[in-house]
Order: sequence, then structure tokens, then C-alpha cells
Amino acid sequence: MAARPTRNDMTTPRERPILVTGANGMLAGALRRRFGQPGGPAAPVIWTDVDELNIGDEAAVRQLVERRRCGAIINCAGLTQVDECQSRRDEAMRINGAAVGHLARAAEAVGAVLVQISTDFVFGGDEARPYVEADPPQPLNAYGESKLLGEREAARAPEHLIVRTAWLYGPHGRNFVRSICRQAALGRPLTVVNDQVGCPTYTGDLAEAIVRLMGCGARGVVHACGSEPTSWFEFAREIVRLRQSDVAVEPISSQRLGRPARRPAMSVLDCSRLAELTGYRLPGFRTSLPAYLAEMTSGEDG
Ligand SMILES: NC(=O)c1ccc[n+]([C@@H]2O[C@H](COP(=O)([O-])OP(=O)(O)OC[C@H]3O[C@@H](n4cnc5c(N)ncnc54)[C@H](OP(=O)(O)O)[C@@H]3O)[C@@H](O)[C@H]2O)c1
Repeated sequence: MAARPTRNDMTTPRERPILVTGANGMLAGALRRRFGQPGGPAAPVIWTDVDELNIGDEAAVRQLVERRRCGAIINCAGLTQVDECQSRRDEAMRINGAAVGHLARAAEAVGAVLVQISTDFVFGGDEARPYVEADPPQPLNAYGESKLLGEREAARAPEHLIVRTAWLYGPHGRNFVRSICRQAALGRPLTVVNDQVGCPTYTGDLAEAIVRLMGCGARGVVHACGSEPTSWFEFAREIVRLRQSDVAVEPISSQRLGRPARRPAMSVLDCSRLAELTGYRLPGFRTSLPAYLAEMTSGEDG
């Protein structure tokens, strides 16, 4: 798990193209923005979502990766609605799990690095301390199981980097912050679970971590999430406060809320390895949330 020599940009073998899957999604949107800034890749980037490249289609994956001789594949594609995965388990296992094997085999064929985005939901949530990369996974729901299969498939690529993150919010997608803002704007009282603790993560900060990890040639599993753990309830309260809304926010237990998929009670990730490899710690939500809300207000939130 040692870091490779530090490079100052996202070098890929002979500057071969970088393939990004799931390009219409929230994280890929942040990568697109980050790649356009200093330290972004010199190599061309091929942005694909399901209409251009369905990662469930192994022949199509193989053909594109081999034809373009990709130097890196960043897999942002997936089924990310946790409750929907519970009712569509087979499809979740196919896209979040087996399809990552398609990317891994294609990466191996051309000597590319596969960067797989994974989740805190691979953990069971019964630890009293933050999870480190080596902790045994124990997913509680179909989404977590499918993402764990995705990790195992990604690890078959000789060059792989698995970035586990959590509780994403940012432009270009459905997320908790947007939904709380929408309900607050309608003046609707909110009921939010107070017995799940994790790390809200701004996609722009995660994009920065991915650029740095790729730049230093990191391999293996790395945790990368915002550095301030909180509960969904406290997070909602902070969003409402910053929006200067006076809607009531009431706590509720997960059991009473009764969502289809069970969630871990404590899924805080220890990000020390990221800091050792890159010198970077993602800011916490008290730093990044106000900036995101300002983006939303100014209409930059796509
Ligand atoms: N969101 C979170 O809180 C969170 C937390 C931890 C980890 N992650 C992981 O981070 C990664 C990025 O998440 P995100 O929130 O940016 O996801 P997202 O916004 O849901 O984007 C995923 C994209 O993948 C596309 N997609 C679905 N099936 C596909 C297929 N078969 N082939 C190609 N593309 C396909 C989706 O299209 P459709 O919209 O048409 O389905 C969507 O554009 C995912 O791996 C996710 O598991 C997310």
C-alpha cells in the first residue's frame, strides 16, 4: 500500500485518454469542473454516461477502452438510490457489482488504472471508532452488498484505486442538501433521522482528493470523505440555519422512519491514509456547505 513517487499532475501512461463513466452524475460533474483547473489531467478525457457507454455491456466497454487505449478509467457510474437498490437487488448487483468486472478486465487488457468509487455503506456501522481501510466490510443492505462486489471486481485489475466516500452533496444531482432546501422553501416541517452518523462530503472536495490520489499514483483502498462527522438531523439543522429558514426540524429514529433499506448507525471513515498519501484532508461540512449553498443561490447548481 506504499505511495508511488509524487508527480505534479494526473499523468496517465503516455498521456493516454482518461475514460469517465457516469458522466451525467453528481461526482462526475465535480470532476469535470476540477479537471479544467490547474493540476487537472494533460490527457484527453472521454466523458460517457449510459447512453454512450452502458457499463453493463462488456463488449462495448472492451471495445471503447481498447480502441482509445485508455490510460485510466474513473468509474462514477452506478445505481445510487439506496432504497431503490433494495427493491432492484439483481440490477444493483449487475451494475454496481458485476459491471465493474467489465471495466477491470478492459483496464487490464490495455494496462490502464481503474479508479472505482465506493461507499461507507460497505460497513456494518457497529464500531465506536471511524473505520479504517482494513476493517472488514459487513454491508447491511443491497446497495452496500453491490458496492462491495464492485470493490472486489475492481481489485482484479492489476492497477486499481478504490476510493470510499460518503454522504455526497453538490451540483448536478439529487442529494440531501437540495431536498432539505426544497422542503424548507415550501415551509414544510422536516422530520430527519438522528441515529445515523456519517461524514457529509462535498463533491468538489472529493474531486480534489481524486485528482491528488491519481497524481501521486496511489493504489489500493483509500477513504476520502468530509472531515466533520454528524447525524442527518444535525446536518439538516445546519442547512436550515444557513438558509435562514424557520421551519421546524424534528428528530426521528430510523426504526420509526422505516425506510426499505437498513443503514449503518455509524459509518464515519478514517481518512488518515489519504492525508499520508496526498497531504490533503477534505474540509468538513461547516466549511464546504456554505459555499455550496451560495452556488445554489447564484444558480450555478446545475
Ligand atoms: N451519492 C452519494 O451519497 C454517494 C455516497 C458514497 C458513494 N457514492 C458513490 O459515488 C459514485 C458517484 O455517485 P453519484 O452520487 O455521483 O452518482 P449519480 O449522481 O447517481 O450518477 C451516477 C450516474 O451513472 C449513470 N448510470 C447508471 N447506470 C449506468 C450504466 N449501466 N452505465 C453507465 N452509466 C450508468 C446514472 O445514470 P441515471 O441517472 O440515468 O441512472 C448517473 O448519471 C457512485 O459509485 C456511488 O455509489 C455515492
